[in-house]
This record gives sequence, C-alpha cells and structure tokens, in this order.
Amino acid sequence: MKFNKAPLPFVGQKRNFLKQFTKVLNESIEGQGEGWTIVDVFGGSGLLAHTAKQLKPCARVIYNDFDNYADRLAHIEDINRLRQQLAVTVKDVPIKSKLDKHTQSLVIEQIRSFKGYIDLGSLQTWLLFSGDILENLDQIYKESVLYNRVRKSDYSLATGYLDGVEVVSKSFDALLPEHVNNKNTLLVLDPPYLFSEQKAYRKAEEFRFISFIKLMTLIRPPFILFSNKHSEIIEYLDYMTEQKDERFMGFDYVSVTAAIGKGRTYKDYMIYKF
Ligand SMILES: C[S@@+](CC[C@H](N)C(=O)[O-])C[C@H]1O[C@@H](n2cnc3c(N)ncnc32)[C@H](O)[C@@H]1O
Repeated sequence: MKFNKAPLPFVGQKRNFLKQFTKVLNESIEGQGEGWTIVDVFGGSGLLAHTAKQLKPCARVIYNDFDNYADRLAHIEDINRLRQQLAVTVKDVPIKSKLDKHTQSLVIEQIRSFKGYIDLGSLQTWLLFSGDILENLDQIYKESVLYNRVRKSDYSLATGYLDGVEVVSKSFDALLPEHVNNKNTLLVLDPPYLFSEQKAYRKAEEFRFISFIKLMTLIRPPFILFSNKHSEIIEYLDYMTEQKDERFMGFDYVSVTAAIGKGRTYKDYMIYKF
C-alpha cells in the first residue's frame, strides 16, 4: 500500500513534494531501480524512503531513522487507545477551543495514569495550540492552557509502510562516507532547514552552520536536496556554480509555495542533479 503522508504526525514531512519527488525519480532512474541504492539520509518520518521503495522496488533503499520514528509506528495501537480515552473526556468542549480547568485536570490525570506508550508527536497535535511543540511530557502537566484538537478517528496501522526498506540510525556525517563513493547511489537529503525552528526534532542536536558546511563537503551527484528560501540555498548553489564547483553545475529545482495563514507563505525547494 502506498502512503501519501506519514502514518503518524511528523513536522517537516515532505508530503507536499511527493508528486515532484516521484516525477524526478521516474525520469532519472530507469525501470524498477535495479542496481541502485537510494539513501534517505535525513529520513524523519521515512516518507521519502517509503515512496522511493514503492516506485523503485528493486533498489536498495536505506532509511536513516535518526528520530526513532519506527518506534512510534510500532506503538500505534497504544497511541490510538490514549486518543480514544481523551476524545471521550473532551467531547463537550468545542473543537479547537480551550479546555476548561476541570476537563484539563481530567485530561492530565488520564495521561499520567495511562499504561502504555505515550507519543509526544501525536499528543502535541491533540492538545496544544496549532504548531506548538511538546518537548517533553512534563510540559503538558505545566501548560496553562490546553486545547481540544483531539483527532476524531484512529490512526491506521502502518502495515507495510517500511517493508523492504533498511532502517539505520546514524548522524549524516557518519552515514554519508559509507555511500558517497558508489556512483549508483542516490543521496536524498532533507536536513533541518538552516535558520528555522528545529525543536520538533527532539533527539537531534541542532543542525546549524557547521553541519551545513559538512553536508556540502560530502554531497555529490546524484542527489535530491530539500531546503527553503530562508536558507538562501539557491543563492549558495549559484555561487558554487560560479566558482565552477562541478558537483553543482547544471543543478535544477522545483519550488512549492504553501500558505501558513494570515497572508503569510513559505517557499520550499527540491533541488536535484543526476
Ligand atoms: C526536515 S526533517 C526530514 C523529513 C523527512 N524527509 C520526511 O518526509 O518526513 C529533518 C530530519 O533530520 C534529522 N536530523 C537532524 N540532525 C541530524 C543528523 N545530524 N544526522 C541525521 N539526521 C539528522 C531530524 O531529526 C529530522 O528527522
């Protein structure tokens, strides 16, 4: 089964780029991907690794699960059980409204006494203001206001989502040297965006300037690289091209613009070279 979004919430997942990602993979890698390796270096939810395996089933596809997302997927039943309990507790609070003090204390009690896996990435979408990040469970107990944004239905079990995909968990600077010398290896690079909020990636050290420089030292074609306007990536690659850095000469890109409310938009890029 093909997923067009990550089975559990994941901030920064590339669902908006799947069409373009699919097009580029199909144009650049023949047939079923025989003889190819595709490494999803900043795997996040694994959505790009999943998509690559569906499109190119004969390729070796590696998903670098730095955040241990696979562990969240293994606990969907527990996650659904807590969701069901919370949905009952907040049922009289209008959707997207603040919880009254009594309901809030019931919700907190329910979470405290829950015997099972608690998934921060789901919990934040059910109880915090839209887009807010839950860094640890303690935060929910101390939060002055919680909201009823509890999902109405269960998450479907992610059956088959990672079938045939190899899962590893390493920092990009340890993983890339294992692969850059194989010319039939496509590097899929979706690092945290420079100069952007990265709190959602709880386990990671922040990916900052030096990480970016390290990544740009290791990168070579064929690659697919994601970034945003704010990171000045196109300006950077234009400059590298002017400097005659062959790795980037002739790079191509597509952009996606999305609205984030109040007339504000953001622009993301998928840059590629084969
Ligand atoms: C923009 S997200 C990737 C989203 C992914 N493409 C998806 O569709 O779900 C960036 C990911 O890089 C991870 N990351 C941060 N630092 C890293 C490092 N040093 N090595 C590998 N991954 C890292 C983050 O934890 C996060 O999962």
